[in-house]
Amino acid sequence: MQKQKNVFIQTFGCQMNKLDSELSLGLVRETGYGIATEIGDADIILYNTCSVRAHAEEKVYSHIGALKARKLREPGLIIGVLGCMAQKDGKQVFKRSPHVNLVIGTRMLHKLPDILRSAEECEEHILAVDKDQFFSIPRFVNGHDNGFQNYVSIMRGCDNYCTYCIVPYVRGSEVSRKIDDIYSEVYQLADHGCREVTLLGQNVNSYGKGLDDGSNLARLLQKIGKIDKLERIRFVTSHPKDVTKELLEEMKNNPKICRYLHLPAQSGSDKILQKMNRKYTSKHYKDLVANARKIMPGISISSDFIVGFPGENDADFNETVELLNDVRFFNCFVFKYSPRKGTVASRLKDDIEEKIKKDRNQILLNLQKKISLEENTKLIGSNFDVLVERLNTKTFAPKSTDKPEESFQGNFMGRTKYNHIVIFSGEDSIIGKTVSVKIDNATEFTLYGKQLN
Ligand code: 5AD
Ligand code: SF4
Repeated sequence: MQKQKNVFIQTFGCQMNKLDSELSLGLVRETGYGIATEIGDADIILYNTCSVRAHAEEKVYSHIGALKARKLREPGLIIGVLGCMAQKDGKQVFKRSPHVNLVIGTRMLHKLPDILRSAEECEEHILAVDKDQFFSIPRFVNGHDNGFQNYVSIMRGCDNYCTYCIVPYVRGSEVSRKIDDIYSEVYQLADHGCREVTLLGQNVNSYGKGLDDGSNLARLLQKIGKIDKLERIRFVTSHPKDVTKELLEEMKNNPKICRYLHLPAQSGSDKILQKMNRKYTSKHYKDLVANARKIMPGISISSDFIVGFPGENDADFNETVELLNDVRFFNCFVFKYSPRKGTVASRLKDDIEEKIKKDRNQILLNLQKKISLEENTKLIGSNFDVLVERLNTKTFAPKSTDKPEESFQGNFMGRTKYNHIVIFSGEDSIIGKTVSVKIDNATEFTLYGKQLN
């Protein structure tokens, strides 16, 4: 009998990719492959890739390049590129890196076991980038993947065509999964020990579009909220133009839904928002945040921003700074604009110098750090329910404070419903449980405390 081949997947990019990798590993395991935890032990190395920015792609090519020598030593080694960059670059990947065996696009991952078998039998390049209409990777809920936190895909693709974004081209148009299928997946997960699900989609607010059964995100949340054993529900990503009153009301009334919205604003300038095809103004955005906070006081709102979009002058950038100051986000992810071939914005001149992009990036990050530290400091003395995720192995000695170091240590790490990361000292065997923690210290990224019960 042939030796069982071991598969290793390295993932780049968003949570959707993480989930795809996890499901792909489940699928190959079910079909007779082993899973390698170290790249050195793998017979099949797969990169699940991201093409949102050029930098993400370069990283993948450099990892692939580093495997050239190993492939010469081990000609039987199978190297594959999966996901967004595979879809976008197709056979160009083989041109640039001939030692790659497989290129598998975003809508062919459910065929991975068959493709791997073919690759074992023939040495030719295999290109699988068809746009199969219906696609979902089956999940095998069993002893292997029953963590207490799981991602669940509820829709795929995006129809928004923000002018800078490659996603609609590589992930295709929006397709929602049936509400009953999602429900039964979450039910099974909860039955196997899952306590928290994060519902995933490029634009979860348009969940239900095209299903013709009246489903929408609010109704999906309501249905899943009835699963007894499930404690917490999160969802990402929301588009500011599509957040409805019904959704906010459902969040308020459903105690299982986390008090957290990731609501990418991208810019504070109406001129830039229009050029990005975001379909809202900065006033709409601010009103939406104010409304969400009125309905759910204390809700954490995080955002993504792109700096250096074509034509972004100092006044436009200042409007973004103003938005950060006004909204006081929980957290911000800031990206330097990266032109993506094929998008509408790539036809505009990338006219903002790299140095200016860098400076603007740094200004926003520093401002957000300051805001996060101020907001987190206000929480010292409060108690939070914390879902304990793992042991904390790091100790942290903050430079910017004269407080004693021991108050910044703890043996566990968990999260509040507001998405704060909490490091705390607590009793044994609480991983996967919810405990009450009193906060006694804070940095911009983390709260620190002690278990109460
Ligand atoms: N350049 C820079 N950032 C981008 N994003 C999407 N496309 C680009 C691009 N071409 C950012 C957006 C999005 C996040 C996932 O990535 O802010 O919300
Ligand atoms: Fe890209 Fe815009 Fe769709 Fe988000 S909403 S995936 S930024 S096109």
